[in-house]
Amino acid sequence: MINIGILTVSDRSSQGKYEDQSGKVVHEVLSRLDMQVVAYDVIPDDRNLISRRLMEWVDEDGCDVIITTGGTGLGPRDVTPEATLAVVDRLAPGFTEAMRVSCLSRTPHAMLSRAVAGIRGRCLIINLPGSPGAVHECLEVIVEALPHAVEMLKGGGHGL
Ligand code: MTE
Repeated sequence: MINIGILTVSDRSSQGKYEDQSGKVVHEVLSRLDMQVVAYDVIPDDRNLISRRLMEWVDEDGCDVIITTGGTGLGPRDVTPEATLAVVDRLAPGFTEAMRVSCLSRTPHAMLSRAVAGIRGRCLIINLPGSPGAVHECLEVIVEALPHAVEMLKGGGHGL
């Protein structure tokens, strides 16, 4: 069972102006895995708040994987990658590289996301862009690799 955290980063959704559709898409796509959502929140594009939430979910709530959505673009308030980099010990760039490569064949806008992925303790943190469509497209690229990633984070080997 994989413990999942879903963190939606959006000024407008956090103010209740929009329903959090992107978080729902994350849940839908991941529901094909043997997983449970142990942490969920919708917060504004605030660097310290994002970092704090990520640290709490790893250090206190035992998340194996945290998926963030939103705040990865070039806008002045897009700070999710920086907030993530501030709390990870090691990088895991393969996830975001794969998403960008795959999604570029659909839209050149895929290059506008500055999403990063990294490891804090034994938790994998992956940024996704904010729109529900982008979440779906990006998550489809990496979802099948997540169970093995979690096994490795827990110290498991490569045996099939
Ligand atoms: N990736 C995919 N697969 N599909 C998309 O439509 N949109 C892009 C990009 N990545 C997109 C995508 C756009 S338009 C932006 S601005 C960036 O993600 C950043 O989005 P964010 O600021 O909501 O995180």
